[in-house]
Amino acid sequence: MSETPLYTALRHHHALHRAPFHTPGHKCAAGALPPDLLQLDYTELPDTDSLFEASGPILQAEQAAAALFGARRTLFSAGGCSLCIQTMLRLSCPQGGTVLCARNAHRTAVNAMALLGLTPLWVMPKNILNILNKNTDRIDACYVTNPDYYGRLLDISALAAACRRRNIPLLVDNAHGTQLAFTQPDLHPLHQGASMTADSAHKTLNVLTGGAWLQIGEERYVPNAKGAMQLFASTSPSYPIMASLDLARAFLQEHPDAFVPVQRRVQQLSQQAASRGILNVSDDPTRLSLKTAEIGLTGTRAAEIFRQNGVEPEMADGAYVVLIATPWNIREDFARAARAIAALPVGEPLSCGPELPALPPVRMPLRKAVFSASHEVPLQRAAGCIAAEAACPCPPGIPVVMPGEEITPQAVQFLGRYGFLSLRVL
Ligand SMILES: Cc1ncc(COP(=O)(O)O)c(C=O)c1O
Repeated sequence: MSETPLYTALRHHHALHRAPFHTPGHKCAAGALPPDLLQLDYTELPDTDSLFEASGPILQAEQAAAALFGARRTLFSAGGCSLCIQTMLRLSCPQGGTVLCARNAHRTAVNAMALLGLTPLWVMPKNILNILNKNTDRIDACYVTNPDYYGRLLDISALAAACRRRNIPLLVDNAHGTQLAFTQPDLHPLHQGASMTADSAHKTLNVLTGGAWLQIGEERYVPNAKGAMQLFASTSPSYPIMASLDLARAFLQEHPDAFVPVQRRVQQLSQQAASRGILNVSDDPTRLSLKTAEIGLTGTRAAEIFRQNGVEPEMADGAYVVLIATPWNIREDFARAARAIAALPVGEPLSCGPELPALPPVRMPLRKAVFSASHEVPLQRAAGCIAAEAACPCPPGIPVVMPGEEITPQAVQFLGRYGFLSLRVL
């Protein structure tokens, strides 16, 4: 066989046998998925139904998922949560419009709004409820990320009530929170009143990468849902991915308490970290988002120490290291994580980064900025230009500029501190 760089890299990584505290939720563990899935890579046949004209087993599998989550309708996606986010936005603003958006939106939402010609009205996540209650301009939908990458949650019940008063939908990017329907307490945003949630099932469940659910909580969005999803989707959705969604639903139906021991173990690690002066900022009880900056370590450096102890984290940045735990992590994985936490050297806290600069003025519609010709300039020459793409330092994981916004001198200064050297501008 000729060289196979990707396959070889995957085999190499697999051979390291690191404890996987990252997506996908099945952790490549024996027994998480049936071994015959690859042999079932079929296509639309008379026996196998068709995702966008579902009337047989796919429809039945979707209905079973809707029943489990208490959704009006659940749609399968083999195109990840990104496809569900595109669908939510299309369904809620079919004629275009303005979306009140928490600024920590994933880039897939920014891209979807550009494709759909929607106008985002950006606000900081902590201010969104206030703006929703006070702003009297026309808003067609409200969009939030809950939980965020660090597992932090918003007051979805209050946001849902405010949206109901304005008769607009509350759309929730719940990419990291499918499992929250099975934690104690139940923290799933659909159950707190969201109109629709985009659930990246593959991130935290025994689902193949790319498998996601769009959960629809309001009847008014059901009739056009398949059509809206089809607009963005491949016409060849993977049957193994869809079958894994069906299997994960059956698993959760039979094991609704599967995440309870996970919570317990995460809590133990959280307490161990706290005893060393490291805060776990996650509200999601299955996630560990350790603020290692408090003991003088960047998250990136902490992640190296985790790797030296045989643990692969999900994400690390300047201040945090994030670990995702699921029922397919074995006892030894948690033991290694505990050893890694014990090995983190405790020093003086890193100084907090500066406050994010104020949101910059919008100089061009998002869609126009994304589709215009752009070029790269050194950061120091970017002040006064219009951004062609988002610039997002982590933490806080909130873009300093979005496409179409003016790059202010304050933004240049802030991004310089985070090591940005250049920006794409129009
Ligand atoms: C917050 C958030 N939203 C959406 C997505 C997109 O999800 P997917 O990769 O399933 O398309 C991600 C992926 O990392 C994410 O972190």
